[in-house]
Order: sequence, then C-alpha cells, then structure tokens
Amino acid sequence: MRKVLKIGIVGCGAIGSSLAKIIKNDFKGKAKVVCLFDIDKNKAFQLAQVLGYNNLVAKDLRSLIKKSHLVIEATHAHFSYAIARKTLLSGKDIMVMSIGGLLDKYENLSKLALRKNRHVYLPSGALCGIDGLKASREGKITMVRLTTTKPVFAFKGVEYVLQKFGNPENFKKETVLFSGSAEKAVKIFPQNINVAAVLSMAGIGAKNTCVRIIASPFIKRNIHEVEIYAQSGKLYTKTENIAHPDNPKTSFLAVLSAVATLRKVLEPIQIGT
Ligand SMILES: NC(=O)c1ccc[n+]([C@@H]2O[C@H](COP(=O)([O-])OP(=O)(O)OC[C@H]3O[C@@H](n4cnc5c(N)ncnc54)[C@H](O)[C@@H]3O)[C@@H](O)[C@H]2O)c1
Repeated sequence: MRKVLKIGIVGCGAIGSSLAKIIKNDFKGKAKVVCLFDIDKNKAFQLAQVLGYNNLVAKDLRSLIKKSHLVIEATHAHFSYAIARKTLLSGKDIMVMSIGGLLDKYENLSKLALRKNRHVYLPSGALCGIDGLKASREGKITMVRLTTTKPVFAFKGVEYVLQKFGNPENFKKETVLFSGSAEKAVKIFPQNINVAAVLSMAGIGAKNTCVRIIASPFIKRNIHEVEIYAQSGKLYTKTENIAHPDNPKTSFLAVLSAVATLRKVLEPIQIGT
C-alpha cells in the first residue's frame, strides 16, 4: 500500500488555509499536512490551531521542505520561483499556485525537475480549457486569446491602474485596462493574472498568447474567456468564478483545482489530457 503523502504548505492565506482544511477532512489515509510556514507567523499558528495539530509550524522554509514529500506554494508571485527551486534542489515535489512568477523561468525549472527526477505541479487554477489547449498544441495552433473581466474591487491598490485610470472603484463603465501579450500582462498584474501564465505555458508561450483585462463595475464574479483557433478546430470556454470568501482577488475554483491536482497525484487512473 502507498504511504501517506506528507504535505508542507507555504503561505497560510486564503488558498493555503482552505487547502489545509480540505486535505485534513477529505484525504484521510492518503495525504496529511505535516508542516505550515508563513512569513506572518501568526497566520501559520492560527491555521495550526484551527487544524487542531500541535507542532505544525516550521521555523523556516528549509525545515518545512525537509519534513514534506510535497510542498504546496501559496504565497506571492515574487517568491514562487525561489520556493520551487529550493524544494526541487532538496529532492522534493512542488505544487505552485503563484504561477505568474514562473513564466520566464519555466525552462530552468523544467531542467532542474528533470535533473532531480522530481515533479512540478501547476494546477489549471481559475480557468477552464487547459485540457483542450494541451491537446490542440499537439497539432498547429494559430491563436490563443484570454479575456479576463473582474469586478472593480479586484484591482484595488494595483499601482498601474491607479496611475493610468484612477481609482477603479469610481469606474462607471467597463474599462479595458490592458490589451497585449501575456508576457507583458503578468508583469503588470502579477496578483491577478496567474491564469494568463498557465495558459501561456500550456499553449504557445507568453509572447504569442493575447490577453485583455477588463474591470467592470457591474459584475461580482471573476470571468475568464478563452478562445483557441487551431488546426483541430475552434475552442471557446467561459468560466464565471465566485470569489474566495477570504480574498476577493482569488477565485474559489483555484482552491478546488489544487485539490483536483492533488487527487491526480494520488490516484492510479489519470483522467483528462
Ligand atoms: N493559479 C491560480 O489560478 C491562482 C488563483 C488565485 C490565486 N493564485 C495565487 O496564489 C497565491 C496565494 O493566494 P491567496 O489568495 O492565498 O493569497 P493570500 O494573500 O490570502 O495569502 C498569501 C499568504 O502568503 C504569505 N506569504 C507571502 N510571502 C511569503 C513568503 N515569502 N513565505 C511564506 N509566506 C508568504 C502571506 O503572509 C499570506 O498569508 C497568490 O500568489 C495568488 O496570486 C493563483
């Protein structure tokens, strides 16, 4: 019988906390959260208390990695590459949620994972269509376009938006904040655009993937539309996401996507491309 997968969670915010609770309740005998780490120590201690385990909080990232078989990163795009690299160098697997931070380092990470014979898991997150995109890529793709429409409050505090358009909470109509390549989009909106990064990596790359970002005062959900034009046909998906209750910038589907990826890691039968 397979041994219980020991999981360390880095980042105990909306995603990290939800994941820890779901793993505790739904993965008994298969996976277990053995360690938590957050730069805000209080968050890690609070989560450990909710989970009802003692000695769960690691003193640093290195000791978390040491105790885990699989590390789940749920921090910030600025740190995800460094956390993934350290994890792989220690001979452990990693699941990354802050995918925007990996885009220009994908090749390096891939080589390192190969050299260490470890895995990097990148969940589809708040987006549908990655399965069809991966299949289409085996033929020829002519265009991939993502249109992301979010409620105005999702862009609160984004410097680029404030400087170029003013306070988004004063918008009276839908406003196109960005139109260009995914490569540029992830640099300007690192916290809002993980979906552009995963779409680029699964498809035709960040230079060639088109992205539009729209702020709307009329909606409450995060909406992602994907259009793919390929040799195999046309593909269109629309995902209307409900925001995570603890972080309106995060879609709840991102948590469930990580849970589904974890099942894929554990299950003998793999469904979907
Ligand atoms: N892949 C996707 O589709 C998707 C969807 C939503 C969010 N995300 C990304 O997932 C990440 C987590 O999202 P969230 O909603 O939980 O954010 P959050 O702000 O609720 O939580 C992030 C936590 O990470 C901690 N943290 C920050 N830097 C750290 C570091 N260097 N080491 C340890 N802890 C650190 C913070 O203190 C905080 O507790 C973000 O980068 C977000 O952009 C990805």
